[in-house]
Amino acid sequence: MLVRPRRTRSSEILRKMVRETRMDKSSLMYPIFVQEGDKIEEEIASMKGQYRYSVDRLKYELERVSNAGVSSVMLFGIPKNKDLVGSEAYAEDGIIQKALMEAKKEFPNLYYATDVCLCEYTSHGHCGILKGEYLDNDQTLELLAKTALSHVQAGADMVAPSDMMDKRVQRIREELEKNGYVQTPIMSYAVKYASSFYGPFREAAGSTPSFGDRKSYQMDYHNKKEAIKEALLDANEGADIIMVKPALSYLDIIKEVSESVNLPIAAYSVSGEYAMVKAASSMGYIDEASIVCEMAASTYRAGTDIYITYFAKELAKYMDEGRIG
Ligand code: PBG
Repeated sequence: MLVRPRRTRSSEILRKMVRETRMDKSSLMYPIFVQEGDKIEEEIASMKGQYRYSVDRLKYELERVSNAGVSSVMLFGIPKNKDLVGSEAYAEDGIIQKALMEAKKEFPNLYYATDVCLCEYTSHGHCGILKGEYLDNDQTLELLAKTALSHVQAGADMVAPSDMMDKRVQRIREELEKNGYVQTPIMSYAVKYASSFYGPFREAAGSTPSFGDRKSYQMDYHNKKEAIKEALLDANEGADIIMVKPALSYLDIIKEVSESVNLPIAAYSVSGEYAMVKAASSMGYIDEASIVCEMAASTYRAGTDIYITYFAKELAKYMDEGRIG
């Protein structure tokens, strides 16, 4: 036999030598939930192993992240009070703003991205200002720009708008430029599908819409061309990184988007993906570590550069151990 594909699979050293997908810890980003209060470290029921931290407890988690060798985090805030216009999203003493100031003081070497959206801050749970049942795109842009600016002023290294309003990247970019923050990258949740995989996150952040759903702004999962359209629009508006979300059911989209846009790609393995793995592994139906490695490798193989995952600390360890990488 001339050709035997099995030859290059015959030893661990050779398998690693011919590996087509390589990953390292510098591409991992870890999402963290921060909430108002004191001494809080509350496990999220649907996301075993993930917690909501008050600002005073955040440093202990940042230490674990840092020790694992993960160098960037994405912060999500859960405010004290929610109102119609999401005031605490852009308040100077809002939860993210306070968390950033503390985190940058305690762990200045970590890289801090923040999720920019209003849904955790509005009483109705939608991602902006409502006019009747219409989520008013253009009015919402103003508040998103304000929110992004206040995150950056509090110390955010990067902002990540996740609201899916049209033109928000441009509006945020203008606001940052106007205020002298010309170096702050925007990682746009450009390709964000209306997905049931966000269920556990909404429980964690108390951001389930009080009526209706997010289908009038997040994307229909039957669509693929639209993903390219969204990605290109955001690239033109000044996005520095394009995100696809969720990850696991959207590998085809990650591939297409990464081939169509000349920007780094991020993929977000969301709460529902995490919850499914945790539930199945707690029942003994799957081996958690192996599944987590396989999910990660498939996402990188599809074309992602950055992997945002609740398993970031574990993956960093698996990479250190040479289980994956
Ligand atoms: C805020 C936001 C959501 C997620 C990230 N940013 C929730 C949503 O759009 O409903 C989901 C993250 C996850 O499920 O892990 N808009």
